[in-house]
Amino acid sequence: MSTHKTYIIGNWKMYGDLAMARALVEEVATQAGAMPASVEVILCPPATLVREVADMITGFTVRVGGQDCHEQVDGAFTGDISAAMLKDAGAAYVILGHSERRGGHGETNHAVRHKALRAIKTRLIPIICVGETLVEREAGRAAEVVEQQLWESVPEEARGEVFLVAYEPVWAIGTGKTPTAEDIKQMHRHIAKVLASKVGLAAGAIPVVYGGSVKAENARDILTIEGVSGVLVGGASLKAAEFCKIVKSA
Ligand code: PGA
Repeated sequence: MSTHKTYIIGNWKMYGDLAMARALVEEVATQAGAMPASVEVILCPPATLVREVADMITGFTVRVGGQDCHEQVDGAFTGDISAAMLKDAGAAYVILGHSERRGGHGETNHAVRHKALRAIKTRLIPIICVGETLVEREAGRAAEVVEQQLWESVPEEARGEVFLVAYEPVWAIGTGKTPTAEDIKQMHRHIAKVLASKVGLAAGAIPVVYGGSVKAENARDILTIEGVSGVLVGGASLKAAEFCKIVKSA
């Protein structure tokens, strides 16, 4: 049985402005801000809103995260954001290796590993994303693909550090499709085993959340699947009422 907190993570992607953030955070903070310590609500707005959201949630048990960070401390990297900048703006977490970064920005496992290492060194908690494409799943390669992503994306130095893994099948993101409960359970079990050998901890020591078309209607069922320590929510995290329902189902 998992002894982890239950993580409810909202990934706003490239959506949101100040007015939206204020309205949404106010509702989340009042409706879901006083959650028991066993539930960790993490909002990951675009970089421009991290500080604002961090300021708004002061006094609530809600945390803020970034959606990416650079692997270097600082430097001439136009358009990038460093882990220290996110931390300075009030973030406690950072999503890394999301399939939209891997696909849209050519991020390799190698790059994700270095970003994760930078995050850890900066005392940001990385949420490392992995997941297979539909072609890979249909070819029966999902477990193998995810295993390789884990081996190559999780830094050895993560041993003994706090980090999360998000299992996000690429074909389930933004599509309304989700794997069966059995498929999620099998993959989470597989991930737990791979992580155990990678970082030398007991299987299940690292929280593994599920992401991909999580909504208010399916959140409760997904959260009860063995090995699922929370959910990473995209589209449904932009609607305050729906996101609050997901938080409450935890
Ligand atoms: P979705 O996105 O909930 O809109 O499917 C999840 C994600 O990309 O993290």
